[in-house]
Amino acid sequence: MKFDTSFEKFANEYDNVMGDNGDYTHLKTITPALFDLIKNPKGLKIYDVGCGNGYIARRLMREGAKEVFASDISETMIHIAKSRYPIHSIIYSIRDMSDFSGFKEGYFDLVVMNMSISYSSNIKKLAKEIARILKTGGRFVFTLDHPLKYSAYKVFGRTDFDITLKDSDYLNEKEKTTYNHWTKQQNALRIYTRPLGSYINALGEYGLFVKFIREPQSKAEYKDKKVKTSIPFKIAVEVVKVV
Ligand SMILES: C[S@@+](CC[C@H](N)C(=O)[O-])C[C@H]1O[C@@H](n2cnc3c(N)ncnc32)[C@H](O)[C@@H]1O
Repeated sequence: MKFDTSFEKFANEYDNVMGDNGDYTHLKTITPALFDLIKNPKGLKIYDVGCGNGYIARRLMREGAKEVFASDISETMIHIAKSRYPIHSIIYSIRDMSDFSGFKEGYFDLVVMNMSISYSSNIKKLAKEIARILKTGGRFVFTLDHPLKYSAYKVFGRTDFDITLKDSDYLNEKEKTTYNHWTKQQNALRIYTRPLGSYINALGEYGLFVKFIREPQSKAEYKDKKVKTSIPFKIAVEVVKVV
C-alpha cells in the first residue's frame, strides 16, 4: 500500500489529539516559537498553508488578523475545521500546498506553515509561489523538525520507532515513508526529508531571506510522562520578502 502525505485517512485521530489548541508538544514547544516570530497578527492578511484542523488559523483570526485563508489537501480536515470550530470569516479551501491559483501577486502580509512544509514534494515551486503571493516586506513563518531531533528522541528514551542511524541520513534529500505518530503505525506516512539548508536556499533563490530562527527547548509527552530537554527537536523560521 502506498501511503501519501495527506492526513485524510486519520483526520479525526489528528483532530482528537490537537483539538483547538494543539497537543502538548504544539502547546509547549511549537506554538510559542511560531507566535514569538509572528508577533501581532492584528490587521494582517494571512494564509495558513497545510492548516490541518485550522487551530493556528483560528488563533490568528481571534488575535485580530484582517483576513485569514487556510487550506489543506485533506477534505476531511477542512470539513472538521469548518464544522467543529466554526469561525465563518476564515476562508478555507481544499488544495495541494503548491497550488496557489486564484491568489493575486503581492496580496499577503504573512504566510504561515505550521509543521506542514516537510510534506511538500517540490520546495522550489513552493518557495516561488509564496514569494509571488507575498507583498514586499511580507513574511513567511514556518516550523519543522530540527536537525537534532533524533538526539532529543534518544534523551526521551523513545522506543516506538527505530531511531538508529537516522542522523546519517540527514543530507539525503528523499521521499520516504515514516512512522505515523497519530495512528502509531510504522512506515505509514509519506514525507520529504531534506537538510535545513535546502529550505533556506530554495527560499533565498526567490528573495525570501531568513531574519530570525527560534530553537525552543523540547517539551513532549511520551508514555504518559512529560519530558523535556535542551536539545531542540523543532525549529521555527521567519523569512522576509525583500525584493
Ligand atoms: C502535521 S499536520 C499540521 C497541520 C496544522 N498546520 C497544525 O499545525 O496542526 C500536516 C498537514 O499537512 C497536510 N498536507 C500534507 N500534504 C499536503 C499537501 N501536499 N498539500 C496540502 N496539505 C498537505 C496534511 O493533510 C496535514 O493536515
